[in-house]
Amino acid sequence: MTDYTILVLPGDGIGPEVTAEGVRLLEAIGRRFGHRFAFSEDIVGGASIDAHGIAIRPQTIAAARASDAVLFGAVGGPRWSDPAAPVRPEQGLLALRSELGLWANLRPVKVDPTLADASTLKREVIEGVDILFIRELTSDVYFGKPQERRVVRGRREAIDTMYYNEDEVARVAHLGFKLARERRGKVTSVDKANVLESSRLWRAVVSEVRPEYPDVQFENLLVDAAAMHLLRRPRDFDVVITTNLFGDILTDEASMLTGSLGMLPSASLGQLRADGTGLGMYEPIHGSAPDIAGQGIANPLATMLCAAMLLRYSCGLEREAQAVEAAAARAIADGLRTPDLAAPGEHAIGTREMAESVLDRLAG
Ligand code: IPM
Ligand code: MG
Repeated sequence: MTDYTILVLPGDGIGPEVTAEGVRLLEAIGRRFGHRFAFSEDIVGGASIDAHGIAIRPQTIAAARASDAVLFGAVGGPRWSDPAAPVRPEQGLLALRSELGLWANLRPVKVDPTLADASTLKREVIEGVDILFIRELTSDVYFGKPQERRVVRGRREAIDTMYYNEDEVARVAHLGFKLARERRGKVTSVDKANVLESSRLWRAVVSEVRPEYPDVQFENLLVDAAAMHLLRRPRDFDVVITTNLFGDILTDEASMLTGSLGMLPSASLGQLRADGTGLGMYEPIHGSAPDIAGQGIANPLATMLCAAMLLRYSCGLEREAQAVEAAAARAIADGLRTPDLAAPGEHAIGTREMAESVLDRLAG
């Protein structure tokens, strides 16, 4: 009897190396805590373009929909990066998000005190930073129509449509307020309401949802100011809710607070069941890193922390999720470093060795 079915989509670059460690970790958790995970695997992104001419096949999306969770590696690489190409690896990712209805992208950004000096920012600014970004993931300019290039009176022009409807905003707002209650009780909503109509709707809907959570502290920020405050007073942020495009940009900025991009996981979730779990796709933030692919030196921690989020949000296994997070933190505290984390001259270990070190530290 299987308890949970997981579709693994390793993708391109270092994707296969890191997802392999995510699977090994889940298998170890299964043995330790008595759960059975059934894994299946398929290709996506550049690998799928090479094999099938498209970034993801419909049957792959169907398999994802039928699973409890998707563990995603990364897509893309120089071979497929021509912006004029009709098929691009990212299309696989965008199709999964939209077809599976994964509208909430959770990106935790937490500064590990033992790694604080790896950041380009001063330790006193970033120490204690613990932010949960909730980026709306299935609307905005990413999916708004029309989205096209055309020729008008002999001149090329292009149009993208920044679209939001109130339901899309309200569900993100509710999730933000709910998750803030389990944390430090503060929500910051980020928009560009001084210029954009879609942002004025965003702000209006968030302010309609807000009275349902009178115990949660709240502030609105314009995205340009938010970009600044993230560097000036990052500790003040708890939960940040924002639109798809602004969330894309701000989470890359915020990842640099930690100086350890190789450790940041993400979860893309849709509507959750009453018990707080649901289908999710889990993906490290770091991307496919083609420059180090195949060398066995990629940091597996982001994917292992993705596995923790998978346990939490798709399986409802909070204790197991915390066991993984504690083991990863212990490996770091014990001084283990992949090359991306190592200070100059510091001894670095490879992907397998780092993953093994985490498994060795799993309590339970
Ligand atoms: C991300 C990425 C994607 C996005 C790209 C690869 C389409 O930057 O997940 O943040 O823009 O959403
Ligand atoms: Mg991005």
